Amino acid sequence: MSATIQSEQLSVEHLLGIKELTAADIELIFRTADGFKEVLNRPIKKVPSLRDITVANLFFESSTRTRVSFELAEKRLSADVVNFSSSGSSVSKGETLVDTVNNILAMKVDMVVLRHPDPGAAVFLSRNVGARIVNAGDGTHEHPTQALLDAYSIREKLGKVRGIKVLIVGDVLHSRVALSNIFCLQKLGAEVMLCGPSTLMPRHIDSLGVKVEYDLDKALRWCDVANMLRIQMERQKGDGIANFPSLREYAMRFGLDLQRYERIGKKILIMHPGPINRGVEITSQVADHANSIILDQVENGVAIRMAVLYLLAARIPRSTV
Ligand code: CP
Repeated sequence: MSATIQSEQLSVEHLLGIKELTAADIELIFRTADGFKEVLNRPIKKVPSLRDITVANLFFESSTRTRVSFELAEKRLSADVVNFSSSGSSVSKGETLVDTVNNILAMKVDMVVLRHPDPGAAVFLSRNVGARIVNAGDGTHEHPTQALLDAYSIREKLGKVRGIKVLIVGDVLHSRVALSNIFCLQKLGAEVMLCGPSTLMPRHIDSLGVKVEYDLDKALRWCDVANMLRIQMERQKGDGIANFPSLREYAMRFGLDLQRYERIGKKILIMHPGPINRGVEITSQVADHANSIILDQVENGVAIRMAVLYLLAARIPRSTV
């Protein structure tokens, strides 16, 4: 990594959400990720940057991409890594979040990557334990590293984020990805439009400074990039589809199939944070289309998370490193 990057610092000690970051923080993370992306393309994909740091990945909710991506990022930085998942732990015996984390920290852990179903869990932890906290998704609140890797992927494919028109489609109400993306894209100067059933739009939508369109075909003609959100069945009441009549009707009105994609009449990038409900938000023909950057998003996640961990570790007082 260059001396220039090493001398710059984030304005925050924890990564709790995009809301707390400045545009300069996000640009610094992107420049740092550029360097790590180059490392990840070398035959030896490893640097010694976090050789003396121990990171605990604490996952109280299911994950594939985020969990594997953080673990790989930590190992590529030569950190010591410990993985914890709430199933099979003493959480089932009634141990609190703070007690669980403090017990893990007693074993000399420097940083905690936390995924938790409760909004605010990462903020709560940052105020109650003595380690750097990285929010890996807290309920319906924020998923900051997902938004960073999404914006980074747009920057990589289109050369910039400023002025790009990004459409976010679907279950905005339950989506931490949507909220973090809105904050991140706006800080970087992109235009954001939301589209989905009115029952899946949050009540405070007017306060977010985004456009809202309920006709997907119109919205698709407006945008340069369409980020198709996952329907979060597990966060909806009742049978999992309480906010719209049926998955079939959702797919017809708000799903992206090849016919609808080809009707747009121009190239737009297709994104999805994963996991995909194929045939609901997008069909396989669209998910696997040449203009889909879904796997580029996943690839970029490792470099982005390396950058976040590296920059936060640089803020740990030297005596404890
Ligand atoms: N995008 C995302 O957060 O995926 P996982 O739930 O698999 O981590």
